[in-house]
Amino acid sequence: MKSLAAICWGINEPWSIEEIDVDPPGPGEVLVEWAAAGLCHSDEGIRTGERVTKEEEATRFPMLGGHEGAGVVSEVGPGVTAFSPGDHVLANFVPACGRCRYCATGRGYICDDNKGFAQRGQLVGGLIKHRARGQDLFVMAKLGTFAERTVVSQASLLPLDADLPLASACLVSCGVATGWGSAVERGGTRPGDVVVVVGTGGVGYSAVQGARNAGAKHIMAIDPIEQRREMAHKAGATSAAASIADGRAEVAHLTNGQGADVVVLTPSVVTGQLIHDALEITGKGGTCVVTGMAEHGVQPVPMDIGMFALYNKQLLGCLFGSMDPRASAPRLLGLYRQGLLDLDGMVTKYRLSDINEALSDSNEGRNIRGVLTMTEG
Ligand SMILES: NC(=O)c1ccc[n+]([C@@H]2O[C@H](COP(=O)([O-])OP(=O)(O)OC[C@H]3O[C@@H](n4cnc5c(N)ncnc54)[C@H](O)[C@@H]3O)[C@@H](O)[C@H]2O)c1
Ligand SMILES: [Zn+2]
Ligand SMILES: [Zn+2]
Repeated sequence: MKSLAAICWGINEPWSIEEIDVDPPGPGEVLVEWAAAGLCHSDEGIRTGERVTKEEEATRFPMLGGHEGAGVVSEVGPGVTAFSPGDHVLANFVPACGRCRYCATGRGYICDDNKGFAQRGQLVGGLIKHRARGQDLFVMAKLGTFAERTVVSQASLLPLDADLPLASACLVSCGVATGWGSAVERGGTRPGDVVVVVGTGGVGYSAVQGARNAGAKHIMAIDPIEQRREMAHKAGATSAAASIADGRAEVAHLTNGQGADVVVLTPSVVTGQLIHDALEITGKGGTCVVTGMAEHGVQPVPMDIGMFALYNKQLLGCLFGSMDPRASAPRLLGLYRQGLLDLDGMVTKYRLSDINEALSDSNEGRNIRGVLTMTEG
């Protein structure tokens, strides 16, 4: 069958909207009609080549983008028991097989099946099912939500209540879970804490919301873009600065010179120097969470190792907010229903054909999260 989709043909090429061929769902697979897809920087990291080595380049392009999304099941393949046509679903970029040792211990975010994330082909079996101009596509995170429809494994989907607005709910499938969990689960924010969030795009904005809900006394938003800093106040930030250097004196003032309890790094690109700066404002017994991604390859991280040890600090990596997607999605959507988590206010809608405009708005901080809408206005 045919589908309109956003394809990137090579590093730094703009998204091109074109018709692609999609094969029918095989065993364990589901054909999803995507209704909404959020623009997360992780797609952009591949498009710009930031996260692609020379050797990987040939395997990443042409790329069908998108890993944040919500839609409706239109057809199921043999043996699919979890979903039926008409069901509403969320994309799930961490497949969470339910059987590996990580899934079995509640850590579905580091499921063994994630290893296929950057490879071509379907999650199970590796067949190619999506083609543009006759060429095989690399499908982002085995999802490819920047399309009217794709075929995905049932493990790459989560059930979604049919009454929830798809454009808002879709954010829970990456940015919101990742940011919220970075502050609350991985960072362990507790009532009365001083929290600093570095980079307040869709992920950082959600970290600020998480910290506020966990009872943080003070939340500083750090972002070079003024509009992003202003928007962060809506999420619960109590102060803001354009850089860690600019915010440093305020962090010292707020903590009696001791430093922040939790520092969450969610900028577009993390560098070794930024980790150094973040550790400098992380206080005694504090936690620094690295959620944002870096350019590919190894980077030195300059750090005062003595102070790191003596101050009993923690430096932690974080995938998907360190939350099991099957547990976190209903929990976060429950908070949304209660009015404790704002999703609607994060969304700026664009048509699929306006993806390049949505991306420049996002890169220049004119929105919090651009959401492509395939079926709603
Ligand atoms: N670990 C995970 O599971 C996971 C999941 C999703 C996204 N990510 C990563 O999280 C990061 C944020 O994603 P996003 O979609 O919110 O991106 P985004 O581009 O929407 O927002 C990033 C923000 O960081 C700001 N920024 C850039 N450099 C900065 C700096 N030096 N100091 C402070 N702020 C800075 C930008 O102005 C922007 O507002 C990206 O690196 C993305 O790839 C990781
Ligand atoms: Zn993402
Ligand atoms: Zn698993």
